[in-house]
Amino acid sequence: ESTLAAAAAQSGRYFGTAIASGRLGDPSYTTIAGREFNSVTAENEMKIDATEPRRGQFDFAAGDRVLNWAVRNGKQVRGHTLAWHSQQPGWMQSLSGGPLRQAMIDHIKGVMTHYKGKIAQWDVVNEAFADGSSGARRDSNLQRTGNDWIEVAFRTARAADPAAKLCYNDYNVENWTWAKTQAMYAMVRDFKQRGVPIDCVGFQAHFNNDSPYNSNFRTTLRNFAALGVDVAITELDVQGAPATTYANVTNDCLAVSRCLGITVWGVRDTDSWRPEHTPLLFNGDGSKKPAYTAVLNALNGG
Ligand code: G3I
Repeated sequence: ESTLAAAAAQSGRYFGTAIASGRLGDPSYTTIAGREFNSVTAENEMKIDATEPRRGQFDFAAGDRVLNWAVRNGKQVRGHTLAWHSQQPGWMQSLSGGPLRQAMIDHIKGVMTHYKGKIAQWDVVNEAFADGSSGARRDSNLQRTGNDWIEVAFRTARAADPAAKLCYNDYNVENWTWAKTQAMYAMVRDFKQRGVPIDCVGFQAHFNNDSPYNSNFRTTLRNFAALGVDVAITELDVQGAPATTYANVTNDCLAVSRCLGITVWGVRDTDSWRPEHTPLLFNGDGSKKPAYTAVLNALNGG
């Protein structure tokens, strides 16, 4: 096959990208995105600050632009993200305790009800674990509402849209030996044992020189899948975009039957949140990089 989407579909997987609504007027961008990818994540437009700028007043204009572009072009959508310490609107940042807990619940219900039946996977909770060796939860206003905030978010989400796969999503959890990975694993195992509704784990896979790709990523994917959840690579980008690393990550997903697919975090290097790392599959002029060919060849089986 000659596109990432068609090549991934040979094994029942998708190949996705983050889409920024502000770039949908750029024909080079939409041509590449429309041709190569069959899954879309809104880079910012479905986040808390975008969708509920004032408490109880939802704004889906930008999120709908991304969703409608995806639907018109035959792509599935990953929803990103419902409960997160970052990109909270000012009103939420200033809440704590019971009112914040209720605001989180109301936000999840409001957004998921609007998009009900249209989202394949939701990142229900994003980045709840601390970096470093502690294995602790990240300190945040949400965490300070009580350690059960994550399971409350998942139960709320299941009730709001039973058709969506519900994911926990994080970064620096690809290396099996890291404390953060082990902490996330213990949480997912506990959720599965207690019947908390979780369907998938998203591995962002933002690799750089400080947290590089390690070949034990495949072990991590396998071990999570063995808990009875699907896994997905949700925000892939790699500093310098070495073709070998991109091929390895692709083959890691292909090696795990419960790996649903791969999403790269942007189309061209110039669309990236860290353009100085040139971490993506296309150059700014729209041409394909060696990493693109490496991914396509891997998806095509060799
Ligand atoms: O929209 C405003 C614009 O009006 C303003 O003029 C401009 C000035 O700074 O800012 C614009 O907002 C920026 C927004 O991206 C849209 O471009 C924000 O400042 C900027 O902080 C925001 O960055 C996003 C970042 O999440 C915020 O946390 C990146 O685009 C986005 O790629 C990044 O994505 C995250 C995932 O959601 C979670 N995992 C990590 C990943 C990378 O950081």
